Amino acid sequence: MGAALRQDSALKHATGEARFLDDLPEPPGLLHAALALSPIAHGRLLALDPGPALALPGVVAVLRPGDIPGRNDIAAAGSNEPLLAEGMVLHAGQPLAIVVGATRDAALAGAAALRPEIAPLLAILSLEEAIAREAWVLPPQEIRRGDAAAALAAAPHRCHGEFRVGGQEHFYLEGQIALALPGEDGEMTIQSSTQHPTEVQHIAARVLGCPFNRITVATRRMGGGFGGKESNASWVAAAAALAARATGRPVKLRLPRKADMAATGKRHPFLYRWQAGFAEDGRILALEAVLAADAGHSLDLTAGVIFRAITHALGCCDVPDVALRALACRTNTVSNTAFRGFGGPQGALLIEDVVHRVAAARGLPPEDVRARNFAGGGNGAETPYGQALEGALIRRVWAEARRDAGWDEKRREIAAFNAAHPTLRRGLGSMVLAFGISFGQMHMNQAGALVHVYTDGSIRLNHGGTEMGQGLFIKVAQVVASVFGVDVGRIAVSATSTAEVPNTSPTAASTGSDLNGWAAHAAASAIRARMAAVAAAEWGVPVEAVAFAEGQVTAGGNRAMEFGALAQLAYMQRVSLSATGFYRTPDIHWDRATMRGEPFFYFSYGAAVAEVAVDLLTGEHRCLAAHLVQDCGRSLNPAVDLGQVEGAFVQGLGWLTCEELWWDAAGRLRTLGPSTYKIPGSREVPPVLRVRLLEGAPARSETIFRSKAVGEPPLLLATAVWNALKDAIGTDHLDAPATPERVLRAIRGG
Ligand code: MTE
Ligand code: MOS
Repeated sequence: MGAALRQDSALKHATGEARFLDDLPEPPGLLHAALALSPIAHGRLLALDPGPALALPGVVAVLRPGDIPGRNDIAAAGSNEPLLAEGMVLHAGQPLAIVVGATRDAALAGAAALRPEIAPLLAILSLEEAIAREAWVLPPQEIRRGDAAAALAAAPHRCHGEFRVGGQEHFYLEGQIALALPGEDGEMTIQSSTQHPTEVQHIAARVLGCPFNRITVATRRMGGGFGGKESNASWVAAAAALAARATGRPVKLRLPRKADMAATGKRHPFLYRWQAGFAEDGRILALEAVLAADAGHSLDLTAGVIFRAITHALGCCDVPDVALRALACRTNTVSNTAFRGFGGPQGALLIEDVVHRVAAARGLPPEDVRARNFAGGGNGAETPYGQALEGALIRRVWAEARRDAGWDEKRREIAAFNAAHPTLRRGLGSMVLAFGISFGQMHMNQAGALVHVYTDGSIRLNHGGTEMGQGLFIKVAQVVASVFGVDVGRIAVSATSTAEVPNTSPTAASTGSDLNGWAAHAAASAIRARMAAVAAAEWGVPVEAVAFAEGQVTAGGNRAMEFGALAQLAYMQRVSLSATGFYRTPDIHWDRATMRGEPFFYFSYGAAVAEVAVDLLTGEHRCLAAHLVQDCGRSLNPAVDLGQVEGAFVQGLGWLTCEELWWDAAGRLRTLGPSTYKIPGSREVPPVLRVRLLEGAPARSETIFRSKAVGEPPLLLATAVWNALKDAIGTDHLDAPATPERVLRAIRGG
């Protein structure tokens, strides 16, 4: 295990010294941009007179599609998403124009003064309507194994279900923001709060109509991303760059919270319909399911979300005959996007619903039914797409969570409590997860790094990963420190920059430390090998005899040199102390035509037990206790990883129990801020929250120092809370988010 060091900026976050983009000193001549957004969900854009904005003091320019020198296209994948609506308006909140002002207030007032003329058209606002009209952003995707229809017909018992889960706003504390600085010869430097600097570079270049090498994008840190700054940050930055190009002055664009919530994509809501056939003992023999995702008006990253939902729809379980069909529905809402888990959490809800209804039908505990269907048991260890799960680890995490929670005793305690309380109900629920690690787009599984050693022995590290609070910078610095055998304090991590490490993948899919850790390892190892050769020659020993530890370089006997002294010696001998490193994940493959392959380098496993209390008169509820066990392999940094598990669990709890996006009949999102959109606060954190990293659980694959990714998987553990609520109120059907209103309706059987 690595050392339990603090996230590199933890103290600065607490004291307010950490600089976010809006804290940077403002360049002279800075202008501010604001967006005019569509009030209409679907329609023909007839006219947009800039006059009312230009008449206001401080408004410098109003930019519309005709002002775009390159292409009006910000699509992350495919090519169908305008930066500014042109001809058609496809969702309420869609950007129509960029207003540039001498101050932010002037720009915002200008944007508010515009009165677009839009002829409304019929809007598709629900998944049901989209399904009925076969409105897709992507053709339906299927994973099949065996003959589900025949196995269903032959099964001794059958049941079916329909349920839904809502979307989720990322609610990063730092909203979307970018600062664009025009330079000489068409150059543009963009400071962006983005998980994907390379995509910001590409999209800004596309919009400006210039080669990639004119654009430099830098990101020191984000005040949270959670997937919301994977593709959405790109168009925000492109808008700032466009305004900077049009005015020749630096431009900052910081979206107000309401505009941020109206204009940026969210987690995909899902609607599920399924039929299962099962045996006497609860073994699921056949499953036919449709998972319909609300993609919103465009593709964005929906292909990846669908891929992950459908590959995770059986969770930790295995079913011999399956037919899973995923629909990517096109609606006139904001284009939904990456959000922690990337469709995996939505996928895993399917099998949980099936397990709970089968259990109810057979009068069995759901935990027993799930365990009977664990992959790697009687049904064989394969997922229906052809990759093996580790049955032993699935059983182990579940056994440990059950033991940590004192499951059997808790059951008795809860029964006694419920018997004694007529209006309060307690419930117990669980979850076991298996989450595949790697990008679904195979080519994205690569990373680069750049390491310099200076002649005083200090080290500068740069890699393609971005820091959003998840502790990536400290983890990768720890990897480099251990290669050089020096203290991590010797390493300075510099802001992610397209000028230092090019052609990077987003920091997403939990792969940040896996990919960048190995890339940095490669760079550091290359320098260390050169330094070792210098030391070996100096001492007349074989290079294998040279060791790097505790800031010293040694070779037995009294041969020892301070690391910095060796760096100086290497410099004097004209040996390079700088290297790039590169990594590509080996072995993974996926065939999109057959929907088969081994797309994940490995799986992360975890299990949870949650206890809840529900007020039967109001539907209000609380999570009283949660016991979580998460497999992180040999954790690179147990302090950071514990924090990630806690944070992901609470974020998942918010998604499933209190965060509700609400659109009015005209398709306008009305939950546009914390007063109406309820994210979990300190009161939602269970008073008993016990998190443990699975001990002695090395990764099977060649991961960096045998660690495993942690960013997203534990979000799925919050499913235990949803399951506990069902247990408390004695239902096998509860849509999510299970807000007090929905819980009350379920209690009243409505
Ligand atoms: N943790 C914090 N504090 N802030 C974030 O924005 N994003 C999550 C997760 N943990 C996030 C976070 C998401 S969606 C992902 S994909 C991973 O971090 C990305 O970082 P990693 O690959 O380095 O784990
Ligand atoms: Mo995370 S949703 O992959 O940014």
